[in-house]
Amino acid sequence: MIINTPPMGWNSWNTFGHDINEDLIKEIADVMVADGYLDAGYEYLVIDDCWQADTRDKNGRLAPDKNKFPNGMKAVGDYIHSKGLKFGIYSCAGQLTCEGFPGSYEHEFIDAETFAEWGVDFLKYDFCFKPKGADTACLYRRMGMALANCGRDILFSACSWGAEETRKWAKTTGAHMWRSTGDIVDSAASIKDHAYVIDRDLKYTSTTSYADFDMLVVGMHGDGNVGVGGATDEMYRSHFTFWAQMSSPLMIGCDIRNINEYTKQTLLNKDIIAINKESYWQPYEIGQIGSWNPKGNPVYCKLLSTGELAIGIYNFYEDEANLSTPLDRIGLNMSTGKTLEMTEIWTGEKEIVHNGVHKVKIEPWGCKLYRCRIVDLQYGDM
Ligand code: GLA
Repeated sequence: MIINTPPMGWNSWNTFGHDINEDLIKEIADVMVADGYLDAGYEYLVIDDCWQADTRDKNGRLAPDKNKFPNGMKAVGDYIHSKGLKFGIYSCAGQLTCEGFPGSYEHEFIDAETFAEWGVDFLKYDFCFKPKGADTACLYRRMGMALANCGRDILFSACSWGAEETRKWAKTTGAHMWRSTGDIVDSAASIKDHAYVIDRDLKYTSTTSYADFDMLVVGMHGDGNVGVGGATDEMYRSHFTFWAQMSSPLMIGCDIRNINEYTKQTLLNKDIIAINKESYWQPYEIGQIGSWNPKGNPVYCKLLSTGELAIGIYNFYEDEANLSTPLDRIGLNMSTGKTLEMTEIWTGEKEIVHNGVHKVKIEPWGCKLYRCRIVDLQYGDM
């Protein structure tokens, strides 16, 4: 089995777009190890679109742009592996990639073999330039079969943007993760748009095939290839927390060589990442008391393997929110004689829920993620 928790890593697209080369990738690999990203679980270093030459080589194989990767892709993969990381690459189900380089359409098996020879461990497979009439699910199945027969374990990251109800057929393709939406960009609005459509996909996720809400924009501050104004550190933290609680893959998109301490602490929080890895049970949205949640801020609960619950409360608005969560909506009625002892993961603050209702004030664009123990109700709370 290639995975049984959501994949984690770094991807070049969000910050660098076309501007990639061997030296950059090696520097990122170095930082992933030196600054603790690999230890925290970020193991895949993925080179996105624009690594390719304009045409295939004389044997019909994909080839790298010689200026960007003068020593070839195997050498890059060898370096990545020498650091204990895994090597990810990008191709496309259509005739061309989104940026116009050769795609894998009708070259699926030879490309999968080439990737295996280069030591690739992860393939992101995009959706541009699909020939008219080609069946989308079958294109992804074809690459899934090619990868499963290439002689190497390669994680298959299908990137069909949620098109044609990807969620309904993704698991028939061999995809270990599959994009459930269009592209995220680096802005608060985009983070929020993504967060609000995720619910429909959660029930299609399994521990070997994850809904992918797209790469993180945490820490980009409007500087990169997908920068559209950027967001604040607090917004990025809510973004990260939401993706983590929903067990989305966590693919960093910022330039980890140049980030502030707050970003680093966001991305490396082991207790939040532990909640991401708890992907066996599906998060469910909790209906709240109406007037306490007038804007419909998302509140999710997920049962953990320890018997605890992870409860996440998110405020994706510019105003402070007073949010009230009745435990009976979670399923924990007072008739059970139980209540929750909640520890907020970012702050470490602990509280016991009294009278069956949890109340909290959340800053604009803030969030709380609690690890909750089910404990006996105390006398006076019944
Ligand atoms: C599409 C994908 C992005 C990125 C670009 C590269 O837009 O959804 O994640 O890979 O292509 O061209």
